[in-house]
Amino acid sequence: MAAILTVDGLHKSFGSHQVLRKVSFTVEPGHVVGLVGPNGAGKSTIMKIILGLIPYDRGQVTIGGQSVGITSHQALGQVGALIEYPGIYPFLTGKQHLQLFAQGPDKQKRVDAVVHDMGMEKYINSKAKRYSLGMKQKLGVAQALLNEPALVILDEPMNGLDPAAVKSSGILSGLRQTLAPAS
Ligand SMILES: Nc1ncnc2c1ncn2[C@@H]1O[C@H](COP(=O)(O)OP(=O)(O)O)[C@@H](O)[C@H]1O
Ligand SMILES: [Mg+2]
Repeated sequence: MAAILTVDGLHKSFGSHQVLRKVSFTVEPGHVVGLVGPNGAGKSTIMKIILGLIPYDRGQVTIGGQSVGITSHQALGQVGALIEYPGIYPFLTGKQHLQLFAQGPDKQKRVDAVVHDMGMEKYINSKAKRYSLGMKQKLGVAQALLNEPALVILDEPMNGLDPAAVKSSGILSGLRQTLAPAS
C-alpha cells in the first residue's frame, strides 16, 4: 500500500546545533508508528516539520504523495494533530470546542461519535475552565481525531493522564475508530 507519510533524508539544525541527521521513515495507512527517544532527541522537531510549522535544511516530507513544507500546507487538510498542549478556551464547553473544529455536512454526528469513542460524555457539556489537565488533553486528542483525518500526529498524547486514565482514556479506542477501514 502507498505510504500516507514519507520522511526522507531530513536534516535540521538550530544554529550550530544539529538535531536531525538524515532521518527517514514511512508510515502506511492504518498503522500506528511511535517515535521513541530521550528528551531532546528531536521527536517534537520531526512532528513540527511534518506539520509544516518549522523549516528544515534538507530532505523531503510528503503526505499522500504531496510535498509539505513551511510554505506548502495543502496536504495538511487530511491531517489531525496535537502538538504539546492543546489550545483551550476556558469559557467554552468541550462540546463547543469540538463544534468549532468540526467540518463537513455530518458535523454533529462527528462530534457525538468522538465524544462517545473517547468516553467524554460526563463532562463534555461543562466549561473547559473546570477541566483537569488530563481532561484538557483528551479534548485536544478528540479535536485531532474529530474530522477522521487520513493521518494523525500526536506529540505525547498521554501528557497529564495518570496510568488509570491512560488505560481507560479512550485515546486508543478513539484512534482505533479513526484508523478502522471505512465499512
Ligand atoms: N526552537 C528551537 N530553538 C533552538 N533549539 C531547539 C528549538 N526547538 C528544539 N530545539 C532543540 O532541539 C533538540 C530536540 O528537541 P525536541 O525535538 O523538542 O526533542 P524531543 O521532542 O525529542 O524531546 C533539543 O536539543 C532542543 O533543545
Ligand atoms: Mg517533545
